[in-house]
Amino acid sequence: MRVLELFSGLGGWRCALGDRGRVVAAYDVSEAANGTYRLNHGQEARARELATVPPRELLEHGADTWLLSPPCQPFCRMGHHRDLADRRSRAFCHLMDVFREAPPERFVLENVVGFLGSEAHALLSERLRAHGLHQLQLQACPSRFGLPNQRPRVFIVASRKPLQPLPQPGLSPRPLADFLDAVEDERLYLQGDGHLRHHQGLDLVTAQDQRSACFIGGYGRRFVGSGSFLKTARGIRRFSPSEVARLLGLPEGFQFPEALSLEARYRLLGNGLSIPVATWALDHL
Ligand SMILES: C[S@@+](CC[C@H](N)C(=O)[O-])C[C@H]1O[C@@H](n2cnc3c(N)ncnc32)[C@H](O)[C@@H]1O
Repeated sequence: MRVLELFSGLGGWRCALGDRGRVVAAYDVSEAANGTYRLNHGQEARARELATVPPRELLEHGADTWLLSPPCQPFCRMGHHRDLADRRSRAFCHLMDVFREAPPERFVLENVVGFLGSEAHALLSERLRAHGLHQLQLQACPSRFGLPNQRPRVFIVASRKPLQPLPQPGLSPRPLADFLDAVEDERLYLQGDGHLRHHQGLDLVTAQDQRSACFIGGYGRRFVGSGSFLKTARGIRRFSPSEVARLLGLPEGFQFPEALSLEARYRLLGNGLSIPVATWALDHL
């Protein structure tokens, strides 16, 4: 596979791809994402606003596969559900125009469950049908892949070849203890009583638990509904970025540029893919 990785973030699709193919170009508008991508994958992602990349440029890469995770806010429960009218859908609409002119052989899109039934979903399905691509609509959560983390997602998998849905592993989640850092970072402990106001709404887990809530981009700034907090003998703390990375199934040793703030690290992880789930989605191709 010659892959265009679009909205590449920290490179989750690339991790899931493994040696099945080669990323011929990656695109993301965020400097923080691209710095992290460079550090871990040794390749530059193009710092471009995808809505304005000329179709010729995208086609010149000679990719036969598009892997993409467009921004989910237009389809999120917590967003305004503005769908294609949301300005963050402009790049997706542009890509659908490029697709109409020159569709790839294979295509996989990941998004939140709210994408199903959206106008964007209808537009994509229409494009896939018009070009005779077979398509599957998959839903999966890492909690069925042995990971103690909730992150239900939708994958639209399409190919020129007929596709068959594959079973999910159905593994029980391992305890959170397996994903914790050997040495705790003291700074992650919630200080003072600021958090006590939110205490009742906090999703608290212990190292023995086999679950954690979905970590979102705002985990570094918000308390309630942003992910789980770990209760230890010493108090209550955030999960560290490397712990969240392990819960997403990113490779051990995944790094962030040193200068990147804690908040920026959580933001990138909150946008990221669960790698075992994305790998399973790619297995369908
Ligand atoms: C849901 S995240 C994708 C995460 C990625 N799959 C990963 O593994 O980290 C969406 C990404 O798209 C980028 N993005 C959003 N709008 C964009 C646009 N118009 N052009 C290029 N990149 C964009 C964001 O910076 C963000 O990194």
